[in-house]
Order: sequence, then structure tokens, then C-alpha cells
Amino acid sequence: MSPTAVQALILAAGKGTRMKSARAKVLHPSLGAPMLEHVVRAVTDAGASPVTVVVGHQADAVEAAFAGRGLAFIRQEPPLGTGHAVQVARERFAAQPDRTLLVVNGDLPLLRPQTLMAMLAAHRRTGGAATLLTVELDDPGAYGRVLRDEVGGVRAIVEEKDATADERRVREINAGLYAFEVPALLEVLGKLKPQNAQGEYYLTDVVGLLRAAGKTVGAVKVEDPREALGVNTVAELAETTRLLRLRRAEALMAAGASIEDPATTHIGLDAVVEADAVIRPYTFLEGRTVVRRGASVGPFARLVDADIGPDAQVLDHCLLRECVVGAAAMVGPFAHIRPESRIGVMAKVGNFVELKKTYLGDGSKAPHLSYIGDATVGPGVNIGAGTITCNYDGTHKHPTRIEAGAFIGSNSTLVAPVTVGEGAYVGAGSAVTEDVPAGALALGRARQVVKPGWAAARPSAARGGADKKSDAGSTPAGALGGAPHSDADKVSGAGFTSAPRKPRED
Ligand code: UD1
Ligand code: CA
Repeated sequence: MSPTAVQALILAAGKGTRMKSARAKVLHPSLGAPMLEHVVRAVTDAGASPVTVVVGHQADAVEAAFAGRGLAFIRQEPPLGTGHAVQVARERFAAQPDRTLLVVNGDLPLLRPQTLMAMLAAHRRTGGAATLLTVELDDPGAYGRVLRDEVGGVRAIVEEKDATADERRVREINAGLYAFEVPALLEVLGKLKPQNAQGEYYLTDVVGLLRAAGKTVGAVKVEDPREALGVNTVAELAETTRLLRLRRAEALMAAGASIEDPATTHIGLDAVVEADAVIRPYTFLEGRTVVRRGASVGPFARLVDADIGPDAQVLDHCLLRECVVGAAAMVGPFAHIRPESRIGVMAKVGNFVELKKTYLGDGSKAPHLSYIGDATVGPGVNIGAGTITCNYDGTHKHPTRIEAGAFIGSNSTLVAPVTVGEGAYVGAGSAVTEDVPAGALALGRARQVVKPGWAAARPSAARGGADKKSDAGSTPAGALGGAPHSDADKVSGAGFTSAPRKPRED
């Protein structure tokens, strides 16, 4: 069957009462994507087109979540059962009577396209009016039971609530996936009656009606029964998510990625881990995150839309969002990289460093305790511990530029907008409010004052030690009186007391 010969209808109008949640069931996330997303991808990857979704409960929210995806929506208000859901979409699929119709329950996030394709292949082989997917379960629970005739043909589906004790013992269940020939379906669809325990129009009754009309209905047994797990409760959703997590990790490991602990590693549907990259335990890779060859991430890291270059390392407890980390760069532990940041090749961002909308040049380092926001940092820059870019004046954000090879001494505040020129130095503890020309040294701090013998001369010292009642650090009035503060304005080489290390050295 050519892929273009299939159209799909996804049933997603139900309230999901058993979730006990205000949110529409199909919007509950599994592995970072709404349940419905998994189903949409499976039918699309199986080649179905067009794809129509029947919505009802919280229809606006469901439509909004899937806007712009090329899906058609049909409203079923109020939802009167799965058969009714197909009835309200009748005009839609009747418009393309030659295309086999896949009908899929929206609560099957574990569904794989391969399974749909196997079902479609069987449907084409047997040439029946309908083919359904069934599973043998040790505990068939609340699923619809598949009833077979003497020669093994599918005769009917009976819902658990309507089944006799004998029928309930049947272990083959209806997975909630069907392929229909449209003309045959249209012949019987109008005959559904809500005369059952739930007072609903059951799609499953179509099977018996087709048989009564002399048509054949085929069935394909799915190999992995877990794939047919319909999600009806929050606990079932958690189990499904666990299985999806393992499945995603297995696929990446098969292609050469190292996932140290698949059970605690979340890798979203669109996240990619290349061969020879290592993902350490308790790590979350979300959105369009890519971890490239030889890179390692974690443990306990969360990456959202991050691109981690080859051989880069993101160490323990980092949060990265919408950023690019260059090849062989090092980030963390405990780093926070915020959107629109870019870390250069072999650059280093260390512990308790936050970057926001910042470009950190190749080989540059911000190893400890810094906030760098709205900044452009050239290559080979060393940013000392405790450096803060003051990018916000209470109303507007302003940029900071630190040019190639500059050195920012520890505990400096760079008050933006400001530029530190190429190869310039900023002395430790400076508040830099004016641009620093290339090659210059800037000092923006009070000069240290030293009072020789001051401690012994303290009035309290004469009484035999510190006055325990006075505030810690307070000095007797007058002790500093007349201190030559004017000296502090004199900038000299001596003001830069410890010799600056060369940039690029740690
Ligand atoms: C259904 C099947 C059952 C099967 C099981 C597999 C029927 C009558 N029963 O039962 O045989 O074993 O799936 O998981 O079909 N929906 C609508 N409109 C409605 C009602 C439901 O769109 O009026 C949607 C729901 O959003 C859901 C799907 O159809 O995505 C299935 O509905 P649900 O109520 O979960 O059916 P089950 O009772 O699980
Ligand atoms: Ca269900």
C-alpha cells in the first residue's frame, strides 16, 4: 500500500474521567510531549494523510497545542462515545473514500509507526472491510474483549462492562486501533445504538455490524503487549512514561550513545545524543537539545534546547537553556546558562556562574561565582571570581563588551554600558563605570589605608581587649578621624597589589 493511500482519524474528545484531572487527558505529557503528540507522530510516520483529530473536552486547548501542524480538527460536543466520534467526522473521511481509514484512540502514547504499518499490511493482504489490532493480556482488565467465531474469525468486540462472565475470561483484547475501508464503514456507521452499560455509541460495535453485513474483519496481534497500553489513569501515564524513556534511550544506545542509567535519564522526542557522547545519571535532555560526539553531560543536569559541542563537558548540577556550548568547552558544576548564550571553543564556565544572553569567546574563562548578562566577551579573556555585569538600570538592559585577552580582577562590577578594551586589566574589587581603553589598567576602588600600631592604641585595648558589647567590626569614633582618604584617588601601580596573572592561565 502506498503511504498516500491512508488517512487517519485520532479520537481525542473524551474527558479522561479516570485521570481525575482538570486537564484534557490527551494533553497530559509523557516524556515531555502531550500524549496526543506521540499518537500524531506515529500515524504521520506511518504515512497517513490527512490526519484529523476529533476534539471535544477542552477542545480549544487541544487545538491550540497542535496549531500549525497541518492537522484538521473536528468538534464532538458532547462526546457520546467512540462510535459517535467517528460519526461526527464522517464527511471528512467520506471525502476520500479510496483511502483506507486508520482510526486510533488518542490515549496510546506507546504506539509505534511500525505497528500501524504492520496492521495496514495485514489489512491489505486479507482484503477485509476492517482490521483491528489485538493483544493477549494475562489480566485483560477493563479492555474490550475480542470474540472469535468457530473458524477463528473476528466476530465482535464486547466491552468489559457489557460482557458476560464467560466473555470476560477472554484474554485477547481490542487495542483501540483499526483500519477501515471507507465505503464499508459508511454502510454500518449509522446503525450504532447506545444500548449498552455506558449508554454510548461504541465504535467497537461496528465490528459486529460489518460481520452481520457479510463482511470480513481481520485482526493482527501486536508483538509487544505494552504497546497497546491505553492510558486512563495518572499511574498508567507514569508507567507509560517509564517505558517511553527506556525506549528512547535504547534507540540512542543502539546508535552508539552511552546512556549510563536509562532509568533515570530523560531524553525527549526531539533531543539527540550522538555516538560516543556520554549521558550520566539523572540527566534531562529536553526540547531540541543535541549532545555531540565525545561530549559528556551530567550527572543531575538539565538541558533545554542546548547544543553541546564535540568533547565538551557539562558537569554535575547544571541548567542550560537555548544555548550553544563550543567544542571541548567546560561548564559547571552548578552553572546556569540562560537563553541566547554561546560559549566558545575550549571556554570554561565554572561553579555558580550565570550567563544570560552572553557570548563567551574561545578559550575564555569565568571559573567562579559570576553573573554575566548581555555581554560580548572576546577570546582569551579571564573573568575573576565574583565578577558581576550590572546590565540593568531598573528600566533598561545595557551591554557589556570585554575584548580579547582582557583580565577582570575578582569581585569587580562592570556597570553597563561599558567596554573593557583588548588586553586591558581591571583591578580586583573595582566598580567599572567608564570604558577601559585597550592595554590599560583600571582601578575603581577605595585605596587601602593602613594605620600602624592602631590596635594597641585603641581605647578598649587599654582595658584589656575588645569590648564584647560593641558591634563586631565597629571602630571607636574618632579612631579613623582624619584618615587621609585623599590618597585613595591617586592611582599608581602599587594600587594593583597582587600581580595579575596572565589571561588564559587558571
Ligand atoms: C476503548 C474501546 C475498548 C478498547 C480500549 C483500548 C470503545 C467503546 N472501547 O475503551 O474496546 O479495549 O479503548 O484502549 O471504543 N473518545 C472520543 N469521544 C468519545 C469517547 C472517547 O473522542 O465520545 C476518545 C477518547 O478521548 C480516547 C479514546 O476515544 O482517546 C478512547 O476512549 P476511552 O473512553 O478511553 O475508551 P476505553 O473505555 O478505554
Ligand atoms: Ca482508553
